[in-house]
Amino acid sequence: MTHVPRRAPRIAHIGIAVRALDDILPFYRDVLGLPEVPLADSDGARIAGLAAGASLVELLEAEAPDSPIGKFVTNRGPGIHHICFAVDDLDDTLARCRSAGVRLIDDTPRLGAEGKRIAFLHPSATAGVLIELSES
Ligand code: CO
Repeated sequence: MTHVPRRAPRIAHIGIAVRALDDILPFYRDVLGLPEVPLADSDGARIAGLAAGASLVELLEAEAPDSPIGKFVTNRGPGIHHICFAVDDLDDTLARCRSAGVRLIDDTPRLGAEGKRIAFLHPSATAGVLIELSES
């Protein structure tokens, strides 16, 4: 069996909760100059993807007020919602989180957008940042 060294986690995307995609997309795309990348809707949100090097900025607009993004914007206003790290072995990473006592939102990985396995960690364990892990 070939030994494949595990790479360090990379920032896959930064999710930004917005009130209205159409209002804010021109800033990131046209003023800042980030190229737009088509992405499917996910978790009750319309998503506009923008490439920032090897990472993405994802602008997330709630499709309904009671969706996760809808609640976030209602309670806290628009802003950074989560940071997603791509990891090579999600199960190992979750096992390390568990043994370190990190509170998990997803006890087992689920399928996220683009069919990748993902899991969220609770912000109480991460200095207040909602962290998504995705398997690359
Ligand atoms: Co995400």
